Amino acid sequence: MSRITLSRYLIEQTRSQETPADLRFLIEVVARACKAISHAVSKGALGGVLGNAGSDNVQGEAQKKLDVISNDILLEANEWGGHLAAMASEEMEKAYQIPGEFPKGKYLLLFDPLDGSSNIDVNVSVGTIFSVLRCPEGIDAPCEKAFLQPGVEQVAAGYAIYGPQTMLMLTLGHGVKGFTLDREVGSFVMTHDDIRVPEQTKEFAINASNQRHWEAPVKRYVDEMLAGETGPLGKNYNMRWIASMVADVHRILTRGGIFMYPRDAREPEKPGKLRLMYEANPMSFIIEQAGGAATNGLERIMDLQPTSLHERVAVFLGSKEEVERATRYHREQQ
Ligand code: AHG
Ligand code: MN
Ligand code: MN
Ligand code: MN
Repeated sequence: MSRITLSRYLIEQTRSQETPADLRFLIEVVARACKAISHAVSKGALGGVLGNAGSDNVQGEAQKKLDVISNDILLEANEWGGHLAAMASEEMEKAYQIPGEFPKGKYLLLFDPLDGSSNIDVNVSVGTIFSVLRCPEGIDAPCEKAFLQPGVEQVAAGYAIYGPQTMLMLTLGHGVKGFTLDREVGSFVMTHDDIRVPEQTKEFAINASNQRHWEAPVKRYVDEMLAGETGPLGKNYNMRWIASMVADVHRILTRGGIFMYPRDAREPEKPGKLRLMYEANPMSFIIEQAGGAATNGLERIMDLQPTSLHERVAVFLGSKEEVERATRYHREQQ
């Protein structure tokens, strides 16, 4: 059987699902940028790409060299093609306007250029997460407001994972497809058709070092999982925490599980650590398209109306039954 490359898949989508040609081009360009990031990541110490850049981003995090390199790769790849109205990134305080010499298009691209950057220096999987929105009509220089659309408005989302293999997982709203990078020919080849997240699981992912800060519903849920077979859930659970959301979500897409980054009592005005626009919304779109669920504990993440570009949110996503349970425990506390 002939191999289905990402390009072929996108062209066939244009025919059958009426994916617009400029959206197809956008995804191709993002995929090309991810290949360049994968290459940079793989050089490691030999390429001088490890370590801190010496700057902080708007989130107050110390930027790694690869955070900055990946951000620049995505900006340079996407600014000239005429498919975008503007871009926004975890690593940039304000929306990035398309330079005047280039034509503008109708889409907005948002990204977490390098997710899991605390793992770069220890050679553990990292990734890139992206989300695509339509630019509201009649806006010439889209500022923050144009981006503040709920996740249900996304027209595409995906992530690249730079692990033992480089993979690109993509949704255009018709299920989730997985592509593996064939490094010899330089193209993404479909290896995972119609990915489904199992509805039940015996595996959870949470940074347990924050336990003392968790709210009561999270404590209850984790305690019940830890109680094992003789506890109220009647199952022995396993736990995994990679500290790269991309890698944790990839495992959950592949074999099920629940991922949790709850709000905690440390900074009550900051709900959770993860970013709604660059992490939670695209990952929720992918997980829902694969049959899973994603909430902030109370509401579906993709229904939330964002109020600022770098807004943070609590995240519970993965296998449907477990996400529903975690959400029910939160609602019962209301
Ligand atoms: P980023 O590297 O893009 O800033 O994101 C890191 C995030 C996410 O990938 C991961 O799930 C989480 O931070 C890990 O947080 P802890 O270090 O608190 O476990
Ligand atoms: Mn970061
Ligand atoms: Mn991230
Ligand atoms: Mn990041």
